[in-house]
Amino acid sequence: MCGIFGYCNYLVERSRGEIIDTLVDGLERLEYRGYDSTGLAIDGDEPDSTMIFKQIGKVSALKKEIKRQNPNRDVTFVSHCGIAHTRWATHGEPKQVNCHPQRSDPNNEFVVVHNGIITNFRELKTLLTNKGFKFESDTDTECIAKLFKHIYDTNVQNGNDLDFHELTKLVLLELEGSYGLLCRSSHYPNEVIATRKGSPLLIGVKSEKKLKVDFVDVEFPDDNRPETPIHNGTSNHINGSRIPNGNGPTTTNGNSNHINGLKKAHNLLPIATNEFNLRHSQSRAFLSEDGTPNPVEFFLSSDAASVIKHTKKVLFLEDDDLAHIYDGELHIHRSRKEVGASMTRSIQTLEMELAQIMKGPYKHFMQKEIYEQPESTLNTMRGRIDFDNNSIMLGGLKAWLPAIRRARRLIMVACGTSYHSCLATRAIFEELSEIPVSVELASDFLDRKSPVFRDDICVFVSQSGETADTMLALNYCLERGALTVGIVNSVGSSLSRATHCGVHINAGPEIGVASTKAYTSQYIALVMVALSLSDDRVSKLERRKDIIQGLKLIPGQIKQVLNLEDRIKKLCENELKDQKSLLLLGRGYQFASALEGALKIKEISYMHSEGVLAGELKHGVLALVDENLPIIAFGTRDSLFPKVVSSIEQVTARKGHPIVICNENDDVWAKKAESVHLETLEVPQTVDCLQGLLNIIPLQLMSYWLAVNKGIDVDFPRNLAKSVTVE
Ligand code: UD1
Ligand code: F6R
Repeated sequence: MCGIFGYCNYLVERSRGEIIDTLVDGLERLEYRGYDSTGLAIDGDEPDSTMIFKQIGKVSALKKEIKRQNPNRDVTFVSHCGIAHTRWATHGEPKQVNCHPQRSDPNNEFVVVHNGIITNFRELKTLLTNKGFKFESDTDTECIAKLFKHIYDTNVQNGNDLDFHELTKLVLLELEGSYGLLCRSSHYPNEVIATRKGSPLLIGVKSEKKLKVDFVDVEFPDDNRPETPIHNGTSNHINGSRIPNGNGPTTTNGNSNHINGLKKAHNLLPIATNEFNLRHSQSRAFLSEDGTPNPVEFFLSSDAASVIKHTKKVLFLEDDDLAHIYDGELHIHRSRKEVGASMTRSIQTLEMELAQIMKGPYKHFMQKEIYEQPESTLNTMRGRIDFDNNSIMLGGLKAWLPAIRRARRLIMVACGTSYHSCLATRAIFEELSEIPVSVELASDFLDRKSPVFRDDICVFVSQSGETADTMLALNYCLERGALTVGIVNSVGSSLSRATHCGVHINAGPEIGVASTKAYTSQYIALVMVALSLSDDRVSKLERRKDIIQGLKLIPGQIKQVLNLEDRIKKLCENELKDQKSLLLLGRGYQFASALEGALKIKEISYMHSEGVLAGELKHGVLALVDENLPIIAFGTRDSLFPKVVSSIEQVTARKGHPIVICNENDDVWAKKAESVHLETLEVPQTVDCLQGLLNIIPLQLMSYWLAVNKGIDVDFPRNLAKSVTVE
């Protein structure tokens, strides 16, 4: 997931080297979120210029790149704003030109780091290209930087001298989608803009002196005071910026009487207020007793983890807040007053430890990722499903659909959990596409040297996109001339690059070794592929509509299922405690849920568990059933429901005490529970082929709590690695 970090110092003298180190350190603290490239922007050597460093790979690679370019680390700045970013590729593969900061033009007049997705970036790109802008990256972010310059230039031409935050307001009016962003500009030296909508952003404040008040007032355009700055009579406007005289970079040991960022004061403090062109300010927190500015440092970040080292005083921006930092002050603007909205943002004291911040309120990444599923499943569908018109558009497959539809057969290949997502969607694939589908474990597929032909379509599913067995199977199919499709989470991964086409599941980085949110997102991505393949079939119209409307409700329904956590925790503490073995029964769509549930329990809690096709019970497995063996059965409603009921009756007839995962208020199970020993875990009902998305959540929670109760570190289960890059 992308990360943002920014650092501003004011009246706190810092060398360029120190500034770079602070920015790089901030990025290192965002590393745990997962990323594939990095970058930062700071003041350049020329007056009011910006230098940018970018590199793909880890922060250490960025450090090397900076070292290679060898900027003068000794230049000092009394006032300076630097911005930095770790990128998790969504728009465009990880390559240097796609790293943030993105810029408006070759002179770096406006540079932006951005988290989130600008959904109307194609329209903006077309508009800006028509205005003569030349785009150099595949990112949506570049259009933000160029939009800043376009609106800035237009206003300068019209004689409008816009304040940086006024300019930003005009830019934001044009953006659709979500963002957390920082922007710095050579036209507004030593200033930075931070704004958010749907993507977190916070500002840490570090000041030697105690802040006057522990909040910042929110400023509105209709406040009874001028929006534009009050300058003293001799202000120096350079292309719309208001900077003190002689703001060029020099070294402190040079002859100049200026140092970077400010007119060099003989003694830095105290300084008369008017010497700094102080603008009208509501930022009471940042003024000292006598009204002169305080030395202060600001740390801007998408994540408290990178700020906590420097300061515990933080202010969390709210959606649509526009923070403007300059002259050691933080101003928060909003475009309009909303009834009941808070008029201040409090500066809070964080009492959390670093590890706590990284995992949020969760104890483990696995738990965090389980809880992320309402959001990650939505992200898989975002921008791809039009729920009003019941249509699907998978950009990565569009051009390939006619070829895929012509296929004689479709082979799905994957390992582990990814294999289960193939099993879970195989039936709907066959139903909608009317193409025979086989599902293969990558290693077995290779061991058998299964025949593959030019007119086969081979679909490879992988969270990491680096799994060795899956990659080998991919190469095997490529050599035989098949058309290959990837369903992958990691953009820029080997599998994503080597396949002819595919779909990124956009679940965000999965850090916990046990795959959870990737499963539900792979499942949805595969269902979307099946839907795309059938969008030319009138006979499937109603079925497709039901599934699309079902998908719309899934994120909310997952949220509902997560409420079962307390019940599941109790089950794990009581009935399931100290058990040696567990049987999971499912059939039809729920066979995959049984296998995936069993895998989760095995890998995390080290408890033997087995997923069994309910129809196979009588062919051997029934011998295991007695009053002691814990059994979980999937008894949600679909066309196979009567058969599932009968299988569970076979279990209860042998004194088994199953826990049945069933739909809410299902009379059949309520009645049965009156006569036999049986417990239920109720989940909402959805379309048959989507029910597995909800049914797997209780099992994810169960595996988590079984393991936690045993004191196992669920994020690092024994003998397992997140990415299996060996055969
Ligand atoms: C793309 C953007 C997405 C943006 C959307 C807006 C990228 C990576 N994605 O998504 O951020 O919101 O446009 O319209 O820039 N591919 C493979 N193999 C795989 C996975 C993908 O070859 O395993 C290829 C696809 O065929 C496609 C490209 O990678 O050419 C991007 O795939 P995907 O992110 O799924 O495409 P969009 O959903 O269009
Ligand atoms: C289970 C798990 C593994 C992976 C498997 C494939 O929780 O994480 O079974 O699903 O190693 O990995 P990817 O999907 O990265 O190819």
